[in-house]
Amino acid sequence: MQIAILGRGVVGGGIVKLVEEAETPLLRKIKIKKILVHRDEQILDDQHTTDFVEIVNDPEISVVCECIGGVEPAHSYVKRALEAGKHVVTANKKMLAVYAGELFDLARQKGLVLAYEASVGGGIPWIDNIKHIQRLEPVTSFQGIFNGTSNYILSQMAEKDLDFAACLKEAQELGYAEKDPSDDIDGGDVCYKVCLSALTAFGKIADPSQVDQWGIRHLTKEDFAWAKANGRTIKLLGRGRQTGEKLSLQVLPVMLKKTSLLARVGLNFNALETDSASLGPETFVGQGAGSLPTAHAAVQDLLDLAEGKKGIVQSAEPGQLTDEEEQTFYLR
Ligand code: HSE
Repeated sequence: MQIAILGRGVVGGGIVKLVEEAETPLLRKIKIKKILVHRDEQILDDQHTTDFVEIVNDPEISVVCECIGGVEPAHSYVKRALEAGKHVVTANKKMLAVYAGELFDLARQKGLVLAYEASVGGGIPWIDNIKHIQRLEPVTSFQGIFNGTSNYILSQMAEKDLDFAACLKEAQELGYAEKDPSDDIDGGDVCYKVCLSALTAFGKIADPSQVDQWGIRHLTKEDFAWAKANGRTIKLLGRGRQTGEKLSLQVLPVMLKKTSLLARVGLNFNALETDSASLGPETFVGQGAGSLPTAHAAVQDLLDLAEGKKGIVQSAEPGQLTDEEEQTFYLR
């Protein structure tokens, strides 16, 4: 199976490493024919190109793996790859959440896979676990810590009595937070991941701009002191539930009992829970970000394609969000 990778940054570079150091016979079936880079000086050999047209017109490339990030040009490239009859694997939660309706429709019309395990929960794997449970029964709700950067900041504020700005600086120095960390700390990143989780769990498309979201930048040392005095800690949670035809999606900081499972997940980890009738709550914990964990998830999608597992092309409809007052979540 010949593939092209768009972008050789944190995630794209991780995929190249995993595929080129292939440890299994199945992984050796994947050949990276082209890598799209941004600038001429990044062209190391014939495998690299700055010309997307070369990739999209190459009949030998059957899968395009998008690791550019951001909305454009990632969205146009994914659209053009699908139009050209190529399967797409993407790690790009923002682009996919914003254009889910258009891109999944296109993939479905063309009978192509649009796989997105790497876009939520890094290497956990999260999307696959939701699909696994759904083989038996509906996932009735989900909740969890979807953003590693904010979890790192909140864990430090709780443990070290530091203020928000100091913890954000530390997260940036450690390379967790983006240079412009707004999506990490204002709930945008969690919102995109919640929309993609809802798409997987409930088959409904939610417009990220309509989801009510709260971030963590206004949390103070006093908030954490109060939480501590009351046996609680604060975590930024993403949540989703389907009630009848309505979707209830939330992104907000929550005071959790210190003894709860999610409260005990520190550092830059993600912890994601499903709820379903016979399993009850299931929690999946792991590295939700970083080069190799995220690359691992993308490569798992590539291996599904190499094995001929076509994956279900979502037949998703627009979902109707509940009003805030109608939301029925409770704290565990
Ligand atoms: N900035 C994200 C995080 C990266 O901190 O979780 C993974 O999506």
